[in-house]
Amino acid sequence: MTEKKDKILKLRDIPGVTPTIAEKLEAAGYITPWAIVVSRVEELAEKAGIPQTTAERIIQNARKILGVTFKTAKQVKMERLSIRKITTGSKNLDDLLGGGIETKTITEFYGEYGTGKTQICHQLAVNVQLPPERGGLAGKTVYIDTEGTFRWERIEAMARALGLDPDEVMDNIYYQRAYNSDHQISIVDELFKFVPENNVKLVIIDSVTSHFRAEYPGREHLAVRQQRLNAHLHQLVKLAEIYNIAVVVTNQVMARPDVFYGDPTQAVGGHVLAHTPGVRVQLRRAKGSKRIARVVDAPHLPEGEAVFVITDEGIRDPEE
Ligand code: GTP
Ligand code: MG
Repeated sequence: MTEKKDKILKLRDIPGVTPTIAEKLEAAGYITPWAIVVSRVEELAEKAGIPQTTAERIIQNARKILGVTFKTAKQVKMERLSIRKITTGSKNLDDLLGGGIETKTITEFYGEYGTGKTQICHQLAVNVQLPPERGGLAGKTVYIDTEGTFRWERIEAMARALGLDPDEVMDNIYYQRAYNSDHQISIVDELFKFVPENNVKLVIIDSVTSHFRAEYPGREHLAVRQQRLNAHLHQLVKLAEIYNIAVVVTNQVMARPDVFYGDPTQAVGGHVLAHTPGVRVQLRRAKGSKRIARVVDAPHLPEGEAVFVITDEGIRDPEE
């Protein structure tokens, strides 16, 4: 319902948005009234280079034209029904997640090295392109790689295993290497324009934490790091909500925090979504190619674990 409105209404339909202001907003990455509604006054003013009073008026007017006010429970239900799901390739893992990776939210996969975080990202980048009847969203992927572990060969193999045209599948994955946390944040800012213009249904950041950890080492930088990371994660949640897309991030945690004495978040060994709404999935290694997934504090999902395997074809259920 809200999406329909968003498609019809343009920035210039917001009272007070002159062509000049519209240009400034667009240049700052705000291209729809919804992007205005969910932004803060100071943020909008600063990024678009307009006075705070103007920013405030524009936000209020955008709320009015989009009818952002109380909703009925029925409307809440309808919005919930607009959430869609992407299959992971493993029925077990899909079941654990209530049907697959959800849109309108952020999903974090965290675990030690080699637990399959990057493999799941590759698989989802392919699977989102499947038609809905096969568990996809017939959409494209943005893949933000911070560690240089993206492999087109894996995409090719996974696409082929699903009977898809590998070249077409690779054409539908927009890849960008992020070189530091500022770069990573600015790529996400650009996505508010890029995602709706390119039928992107999935945004991946593998890994979301590595630059922040490297740039803010030690306990003395922990507060600033967490603050910046939280702002970044909130931006991603917004992106997911506004455009009804899935956002998937990974986060490596260490099994033996004592070895990594310099990093207090490693000592916690946990997920980064603590202050952000979303789904957290812990991955552990099991025998051979088997991996175990567990959903952590998600009241709407059943408790339990799922076993999946990493094969040459990609993420699958174990055979027996
Ligand atoms: P870090 O990024 O180091 O934290 O690890 P990760 O959690 O991202 O692990 P990743 O997804 O890279 O998983 C690596 C594992 O996937 C390897 O140990 C292999 O077992 C498996 N794997 C990767 N590529 C292939 C492949 O082509 N065929 C098969 N059968 N397994 C693969
Ligand atoms: Mg990885």
